[in-house]
Amino acid sequence: MSEPEILGESLPFEERIELPGWARVNVSVSTYEATLRKSLADPQEYWANLARELDWFQEWETILSKEGYPHVYHWFNGGLLNLSHLAVDRHAHSHRRNKLAIIWEGEPTDEKGQPKEVRKLTYGDLYREVNRMAFILKEKFGLKKGDRMAVYMPLIPEAIVTLLAAARLGITFTVVFSGFSAESLSSRVADLGAKLLVTADGFYRRGKTVLLKEIVDKALEQAPSVESTLLVRRLGVACPMTDGRDYYLDDLLSEVPQSIKVDPEIVESGHPLYVLYTSGTTGKPKGIIHDTGGYSVLLHATMRWVFDVRDEDVYWCPADIGWVTGHSYVAYGPLLEGATEVIFEGALDFPAPDRWWAIIERYGVSLLYTTPTATRAQMKFGEDYVKKHDLSSLRLLQSVGEPINPSAWWWLFNLVGDKRCPVGSTWWMTETGGVMISSLPGLALIPMKPGTNGMPLPGVKADVVDEAGASVAPGKKGFLVIQNPWPGMPGPPTGMFGDPDRFEKQYFSRFPGTDYFFCGDYAVKDKDGYIWVAGRADEVLKVAGHRLGTYEIESAIVSHRSASEAAVVAIPDAIKGEVPIAFVVLKQGHEPSDALRIEVRKWVRDGFSPIAEPSQVYFVNKLPKTRSGKIMRRLLRAVAEGRPLGDVATLEDETSVEEAKKAYEELGVR
Ligand code: WTA
Repeated sequence: MSEPEILGESLPFEERIELPGWARVNVSVSTYEATLRKSLADPQEYWANLARELDWFQEWETILSKEGYPHVYHWFNGGLLNLSHLAVDRHAHSHRRNKLAIIWEGEPTDEKGQPKEVRKLTYGDLYREVNRMAFILKEKFGLKKGDRMAVYMPLIPEAIVTLLAAARLGITFTVVFSGFSAESLSSRVADLGAKLLVTADGFYRRGKTVLLKEIVDKALEQAPSVESTLLVRRLGVACPMTDGRDYYLDDLLSEVPQSIKVDPEIVESGHPLYVLYTSGTTGKPKGIIHDTGGYSVLLHATMRWVFDVRDEDVYWCPADIGWVTGHSYVAYGPLLEGATEVIFEGALDFPAPDRWWAIIERYGVSLLYTTPTATRAQMKFGEDYVKKHDLSSLRLLQSVGEPINPSAWWWLFNLVGDKRCPVGSTWWMTETGGVMISSLPGLALIPMKPGTNGMPLPGVKADVVDEAGASVAPGKKGFLVIQNPWPGMPGPPTGMFGDPDRFEKQYFSRFPGTDYFFCGDYAVKDKDGYIWVAGRADEVLKVAGHRLGTYEIESAIVSHRSASEAAVVAIPDAIKGEVPIAFVVLKQGHEPSDALRIEVRKWVRDGFSPIAEPSQVYFVNKLPKTRSGKIMRRLLRAVAEGRPLGDVATLEDETSVEEAKKAYEELGVR
């Protein structure tokens, strides 16, 4: 394996930046070390102690048990709870009743650059709206515990209200990213067997309107389980409505009293809260199941240790609810802790590059959960946009989604955090449910290193191992594994919705004889025990932090009339971290041309998602394959990066690589 680096920057293993003295340390480093030792000696007891801080209707009988399949665990079996009770009712019935839960800002601005729409919901308001929404789901649509529904919505308060209302009734839901096409929507909705689809007429994005209802109508042709749709009037545009199937939320709400109450359905800890479809190495996206109890405990622990959230904070994570970050750290985590959070509909650099900084200043954001891509995009605009704003409210910056290169880290630390704020990079994935490896400002302030993920959380055993599953030496690249079960891991009944075998194969078969969870990432552990995740080791792409599978983009390409085969690989990109490029074999009767290249790219935008558009398309006569017919994407990556090809013993036809090289060199990258 080659030496690890992030976007061409070498990793500063030895650099140590002591955290600023002003930051409150909840406990001393020595207590932290003791906590860590104890948590590793008895992880179950450690998690159970955190679980006891939540409000259960009934305590569990066992902390950890198995659920029929070798690696599907049941956390807190016998425990009864409800997430909407934890995130809403608890606070609405406490001193937090009139505290702001959500500050929402819409994208459109007036001529002075001020937001045209801001909505603020206290915990009392949130309680009322969640109850009213739950009433509609229950009484109008007849949904109950065990039913399934889907959500295809922009980032508006109704989206969070919908998720909490579903959780209140024990309805298992899936959220589909509003930037995905009709095909992506229908395949997920159909796989889950959702009865109801909650959506909106559209939303604002970069000054334009994105219409959703037509996409929904198209998707529903392929999703027979859906009986009804519920639409939020976000734009107020006219939509084609099917009688008896489509309903506007405001019409239904107008008949629901403000004071209506719907008791939270008391569910078992292992009850599936949601299924989130995420991209894997091969095949279709897989539906990861998250339970209720274990997941809530992990969110509670990480909101405390990783974000150090306190009552006086204003927290902001700009992630969309279509991705796991928008679930764990927008829709539930901050609310579980009774925090005040900002949510924003639009693009961080619209209408001007400093929209991001203006929002922090406007609401006094103190905890910011950002991404490397957003940071690098801002770096390009220059420092003045940041300096124009008073960012003195910030006290902590965390990052997520992809590795952060050291220069982006320094930019956040020096400029945005003004050398006052700890800056970290939290490692986790859809499957883990919440943060696993991170600096822990809420627990102790250990020295920072620019770009590192830090140490595994207390209770989490993680390591970097070689092909055989043995620890690699410090500073050497290997595979990241998690060695023990954790609350928030894919839950009962099957880990992966409808496919326990794939779950087992994907995550637990890589290192036979162990119970290691294979994350699919390359990483390095330095001699101080800090972990540095350096990118994916499989066919998963992280484009601007968004997780996409090569297979999904390839399927979108070959659905074009001209394409017979396609291979997609990622190449490094200075802002987005990496971007896809595609090698495409045309069907007989189609000739390569620039027009066709553009058409194929647009096809992927429209047919899958704008975020998946290949930045370049190379037409070739054949793809490099093994003798058994598997595409060797590794060789295409080597071609694109100008690296040696490595082992080509299984390559069937060497001229395929020569051809790819020629096509790549002639055209270059966009
Ligand atoms: C990557 C996103 C380096 C990693 C929460 C992982 C990271 C994948 C980091 C999961 C980080 C996430 N440093 N890499 N701080 N955070 N990743 O499921 O490759 O969308 O496997 O979850 O993102 O992506 P997912």
